[in-house]
Amino acid sequence: MATPKLMTESFYRLQERMEQARAQTDSLFALLRSDAIYERPIPERHRLIFYLGHLEAFDWNLLGRDTFGLASVHPGFDKLFAFGIDPVDGQLPIDQPEDWPTVEEIQAYNAKLRETIDAALRAPSSKLAAEASGTSLDTLLNVAVEHRLMHAETLAYLLHQLAIDKKVAPRTSASPAIGAASPRNDFQRMATIPEGEATLGMRRDRGEFGWDNEFEENKAHVPAFHIGTYPVTNGEFVEFVRAGGYEDKSLWSAEAREWITSKGISHPLFWERSGNDACNGDGWEYRGMFAQIPLPLDWPVCVSHAEASAYARWKNQLLPTEAQWHRAAYGTPTESECLYPWGDVGPSAERGNFDFARWDPTAVTAHRAGVSAFGVHDLLGNGWEWTSTPFAPFPGFKPFPFYPGYSANFFDGKHFVMKGGSQRTAACMLRHSFRNWFQPHYRYVYAKFRTVEE
Ligand SMILES: [Fe+2]
Repeated sequence: MATPKLMTESFYRLQERMEQARAQTDSLFALLRSDAIYERPIPERHRLIFYLGHLEAFDWNLLGRDTFGLASVHPGFDKLFAFGIDPVDGQLPIDQPEDWPTVEEIQAYNAKLRETIDAALRAPSSKLAAEASGTSLDTLLNVAVEHRLMHAETLAYLLHQLAIDKKVAPRTSASPAIGAASPRNDFQRMATIPEGEATLGMRRDRGEFGWDNEFEENKAHVPAFHIGTYPVTNGEFVEFVRAGGYEDKSLWSAEAREWITSKGISHPLFWERSGNDACNGDGWEYRGMFAQIPLPLDWPVCVSHAEASAYARWKNQLLPTEAQWHRAAYGTPTESECLYPWGDVGPSAERGNFDFARWDPTAVTAHRAGVSAFGVHDLLGNGWEWTSTPFAPFPGFKPFPFYPGYSANFFDGKHFVMKGGSQRTAACMLRHSFRNWFQPHYRYVYAKFRTVEE
């Protein structure tokens, strides 16, 4: 059969990527023991059952309903599974397991939606239908693929908080590579970044896919500064805890102090007391995805923005701004900029801990091939990096007409930009312009940080 004229190679590639992304999210649900799907591992988020329906409902509402104008197979589910939650006012959801449909009902809904969407995409008129809706089919498919891949990461955060005995470790998940536990701290070096320009965002006229918050390209002049050659490690953070960092009120903003006091927070979320103070790192253990292990001192510490900021204050240092982070990651001594810290070639396994390579971090020194031109390591993967920059639009920002709240709902001064990526971030979202954001008190993200001196 002749290929319809309007189908492009990238369209077929996008369909292939959609299949891969579906396989990725399906594999996450397959990790759950049967009784775990109605659990709510993070109190601020929906129960896991929501996400089983949400991924398909999102694709349906975007493509099936709004683009192709197809009749719904279940309007109630389309609405029930439409949106996740991100409460900033401290209110927690109160729904009960019995408020949700059965797994079988949702799976039947999902199968029907996939079949209907795929058939509509195969129709020769699909591209024209999308263009009539005002957005290219390539953009809509990229949105569907990346939305699903983002959930593949945030679902991992949820599954991480689920008790280990409620999960089945996949055969491929070797026990975590602990790395050589460093008896002393070797990571406290700072790289000097000379004054120069950082390019943030992406030019709309390049025609490449990016989310609304990635546009337009803009430049920032960045005075010289020093930045941690490596992200702050568990070993370094043990010193902060040992020195009473969580109790020293002067290190915390009034809001952060109220938060740690009211929640009784005295250590990173992923740490647990082993009961054996004689063991490495003051007796702390790391709660991994599938196993609890002695705290790996040379892994990056995973903490909230508030905890990272208190640590930086304790060191008389700062978190980097988004522009400083860009300059350290992509700047070069010749003033040209790279697409990735290591150069212009795309991501590969030796450059960093990303693209679903592992369930847990690695040592900050494990991927030396990922070093930036200014000698900064471990920038992409192994945990997002907090910046001090509140999430806000770039000049020339225009919300996606088909998803106006995607970014704009979070331009509230209560979310901070994160850069880089984690072990569960898909390779496509390691692009230079990609921005992530979270609230300063949200502890469940795979997020690390490094500090700067100006
Ligand atoms: Fe979503």
